[in-house]
Amino acid sequence: MLKLRDVLDESNQLLRTISKEVVFPITDNDQEQIRKTINYLTKSQDPVLAKKYNLRPGMGLAAIQLGIPKRYFVIVHEEAPTQFKTYIIFNPKIISHAAELIYAGSGEGCLSVNREVEGIVPRYARLTITYQDEKGQKQTLRAREELAIAIQHEIDHLNGILFIDHINPKNPYQNEEKMRMI
Ligand code: NI
Repeated sequence: MLKLRDVLDESNQLLRTISKEVVFPITDNDQEQIRKTINYLTKSQDPVLAKKYNLRPGMGLAAIQLGIPKRYFVIVHEEAPTQFKTYIIFNPKIISHAAELIYAGSGEGCLSVNREVEGIVPRYARLTITYQDEKGQKQTLRAREELAIAIQHEIDHLNGILFIDHINPKNPYQNEEKMRMI
């Protein structure tokens, strides 16, 4: 399984890389990293397993967080209690989004940011992306609410951006009244 020590910390400048488009077929190493990432993210969101293996919970991870500068990420999203859906997304592009802004009331987290960060991160409430699946087939995905936030967080990673970059440290709740908390 993936170890947390394999995940780059925010101090590592590699996280600021603008990752490159993935060329298909994907490599054996990418396949292996994806398998390990799914395993980690799934176990880390199970309270019993997270405690047993001392896993910090995470719902998404981008390749660059493992030092791989390629445009792909994995999200394991809890759609309903204990029901998880895995998304493996290559070369995503946002093709449309709602004007409405939301933010995660409990704050966003990131496996590369090992501290509590106060403040809100504005995200689109809904969006549509196109992407390629593991076979390189073009797909379309519509997402809203928590999943939409996760996708925007991970696409940011592909562009060298961390969620903390969106927070004004002098006014971490700036424009809160213009957004809906989820
Ligand atoms: Ni992150």
